[in-house]
Amino acid sequence: MTKNKNNQAIWENRIKNSTSSFFQRVGSSIDIDKRLYKEDITGSIAHVEMLFKQKIISFKIKNKIIYGLSKIKKEISNKKFEFNKNHEDIHMNIEKRLFQIIGEEAGYIHTGRSRNDQVITDLKIWIKSASKEIDFCLHKIIKSTLNLATKNIYTIMPGFTHLKNAQAVSFAHYLMAYIEIFQRDRKRFNNNLESLNENPLGVAAIAGTSFNIDRDFTTKKLGFKKPTNNSIDTVSDRDFVLDFLYCVSVCAMHISRMSEELIIWNSDGFKLINLSDKVVTGSSIMPQKKNPDPLEYLRGKSGNIYGNLFSMLTILKGLPLSYFKDLQDDKEIIFSSNDILINCLKIFDEVLKNLSPNKKRMLELANSGYITATDFADYLVKNHSLSFRKAYQKTADLVNLAEKKKKKLGDFSLEELKKIEPKLTNDVLKVFDLKNSIKSKKTYGGTSFDNIKKMIFKYNKLK
Ligand code: ARG
Repeated sequence: MTKNKNNQAIWENRIKNSTSSFFQRVGSSIDIDKRLYKEDITGSIAHVEMLFKQKIISFKIKNKIIYGLSKIKKEISNKKFEFNKNHEDIHMNIEKRLFQIIGEEAGYIHTGRSRNDQVITDLKIWIKSASKEIDFCLHKIIKSTLNLATKNIYTIMPGFTHLKNAQAVSFAHYLMAYIEIFQRDRKRFNNNLESLNENPLGVAAIAGTSFNIDRDFTTKKLGFKKPTNNSIDTVSDRDFVLDFLYCVSVCAMHISRMSEELIIWNSDGFKLINLSDKVVTGSSIMPQKKNPDPLEYLRGKSGNIYGNLFSMLTILKGLPLSYFKDLQDDKEIIFSSNDILINCLKIFDEVLKNLSPNKKRMLELANSGYITATDFADYLVKNHSLSFRKAYQKTADLVNLAEKKKKKLGDFSLEELKKIEPKLTNDVLKVFDLKNSIKSKKTYGGTSFDNIKKMIFKYNKLK
């Protein structure tokens, strides 16, 4: 019993002096990994059930351990548990407390396993459920975007390339682009499930174990699909951590890009969108200001998230196989990226719900910059058998003329247009109409109103 009195290290028979208190403080991860307590207890329960099934421990011991673990779970949920830094991490804190609750029989819990396989089992289970929460948030964002798109099918705006007016599009089409992006993010997280579904438990410290354990049993119990193949690889592998951090980074990058776009559209120069007071902040000195701070926060946070991905890559790059203490930091990094992303997703959803287009200004801007020039070129190809290059040149001449005369393309009379192409007839004038321009982009994926309606219908059925 003395061996396991609180405050004594599990290895005190071997390492006679206690670890330097300074290192104990910085080397302990309990403040971070206590967040894994539920997964740790679930893993331990599956482990002892398996040990019993394999006749490695008795029925009585199994039940005692499960009783103790369930009590610990309640204590932690009810904030009645005293975490102790001297016990380094969540695994040892729980084991130590188990000794206090059920006595010496707690000593059977660590049969045929190690913290090395235990910690990644916990972490994989945790990442799986974190990915589900992220998916839920992304789904909400998609619904909010869809809602806004549905109200704006006929809202016309300029589509930009190089931030210069390119071609007329529906605002809904722009918004639906975000939906595609977020759908890909969901898929990216989902794609990680294959490696997350490989069960590490049972490879023990590095070599496997001589106990007759049943890894298929714990695999099933813990919701994994198969046990991992190689014990050395298993305790060294943090690819699943990188995969998650990469997905978080890509998603944060998307949010950052869109935030930047919305900041530009909200600027006094563009004035394409309005943000309600819920998603702006004021200035301490300039009373007129309404700043899009939440969007700037979202843009900035991608930096922290990328930093985490690079921290993990750097931690791993020089590590020989297999387990090293260096790996302990993976959890702090994962939790940080996850928490930042969840906040970002929630804020982005708020922004979407508090954003409205300035339809008048959108139309005004769409009417500038000779935005229907390509429509005119296409018309020449389709109606006057010109090659596209030839039509492009004639259209460029028309744009030059418009610039010189300070006119819009739609301001020209048929007579004036005929100077560019003598065969033109009256119906050319309709190509300068923005609605017609949008309607004409009927190919799959294009901005035509009909296409948008079909896409909205499709996404409305999305689970
Ligand atoms: N707290 C440790 C970590 O997160 C658990 C594994 C410790 N294993 C060891 N041999 N020190 O990595």
